[in-house]
Amino acid sequence: MLGGLLRPLLAACGLVLLPAAAAAAVRFNYNNGFYYHDVSNGNGNGEIYFNGVRLFVESPQASVSATRGSSVTLPCHFHYEPELSAPRRTRVKWSWLPANAVGEPVMVAMGNRHRSYGGFRGRVRLRRSAPGDLSLVINELRLNDTGRYRCEVIDGLEDESITVELELRGVVFPYYSDKGRYRLNFLGAQQACQDQDAALATFEQLFTAWDEGLDWCNAGWLADGTVQYPITAPRDGCGGSDLAPGLRSYGQRHRLLHRFDAFCFSASIKGSVYFLASPTKLNFTEALQACAENSSHIAKVGQLYAAWRLTGLDRCDAGWLADGSVRYPITKARVNCGPPEPGVRSFGFPPRHQKFGVYCYR
Ligand SMILES: *[C@@H]1O[C@H](CO)[C@@H](O)[C@H](O)[C@H]1NC(C)=O
Ligand SMILES: *[C@@H]1O[C@H](CO)[C@@H](O)[C@H](O)[C@H]1NC(C)=O
Ligand SMILES: *[C@@H]1O[C@H](CO)[C@@H](O)[C@H](O)[C@H]1NC(C)=O
Repeated sequence: MLGGLLRPLLAACGLVLLPAAAAAAVRFNYNNGFYYHDVSNGNGNGEIYFNGVRLFVESPQASVSATRGSSVTLPCHFHYEPELSAPRRTRVKWSWLPANAVGEPVMVAMGNRHRSYGGFRGRVRLRRSAPGDLSLVINELRLNDTGRYRCEVIDGLEDESITVELELRGVVFPYYSDKGRYRLNFLGAQQACQDQDAALATFEQLFTAWDEGLDWCNAGWLADGTVQYPITAPRDGCGGSDLAPGLRSYGQRHRLLHRFDAFCFSASIKGSVYFLASPTKLNFTEALQACAENSSHIAKVGQLYAAWRLTGLDRCDAGWLADGSVRYPITKARVNCGPPEPGVRSFGFPPRHQKFGVYCYR
């Protein structure tokens, strides 16, 4: 009974489906490096032909460096070899691949339709300055936009991608709050950096800072949830004196239960940081007021570091900062201004009635 019913059905299906099924199954890869695909031309009659077309996706730059708040273009182009006689429906998907995290979609576009996601919504577009240009333009760059971006081109048959690294020019600094050393869990560290106009540093940023000489014997959170510290001069108590210089890592720690310091990353700022010329020294309340009276705000730690590192702020006067710490920035080391190398010197968090100068930000 059943067999009698099915046989004509299968026969009918077979007539329609056979070419498509064959198309899906056949993929030749010749030794000259070209992929030859059998392509259904989509007119529904299941015609098969070989067109020997290959999709290429390229970027002239493997990494791009930018400044916070600016716009950046991550280059990505595609073309076909040999050139197509008729356009294909090509789709592009840009994703962000922050270290140790799953990729997040940034933008998907096909033809004139596009969609952007999450924190990128309203800040991204495709450049489209020429045929095949799928470069991603990101506006109002944020501190935490750094990382690898993947440009993936999909045309139904092929799927090729490249990645471009986005770096921000900036500076890494170790941070602990006025509550003391090793008091921050991961969320607290994220917040502490944000409060200082900074973001938790990535592994790459800490590595670069270490490469440039940062040596710090207190462990701090990084953006990927690991806890590490940079050592250039190996010694006991800092991983041991017989261990090679490098980043010492405690690996992933419990984000709520474990407490450390933080490594923050600060990048160029729009305004400027200055030492307020005041005839008298100020306690913390007076310092806040003095900046306000000078139409500015007391500077945050990230802003002082950025001004020191990126604009060469050099001042041998200790001043209050917004978090209640007292620091001063030295780019040209000299006697009576701290250690023999450049740096932001810190007095920690003195009692707030003590008198110092103040750094303001405008
Ligand atoms: C990135 O920074 C923005 C503010 O600049 C903040 O709103 C957002 O939550 C941050 N995202 C992450 C993943 O930290
Ligand atoms: C306030 O800032 C201005 C610059 O805009 C400066 O000329 C002036 O001396 C400052 N006031 C004090 C009290 O330092
Ligand atoms: C700073 O000095 C003012 C007086 O000029 C005083 O009212 C204020 O309480 C002092 N603030 C602190 C934190 O000691």
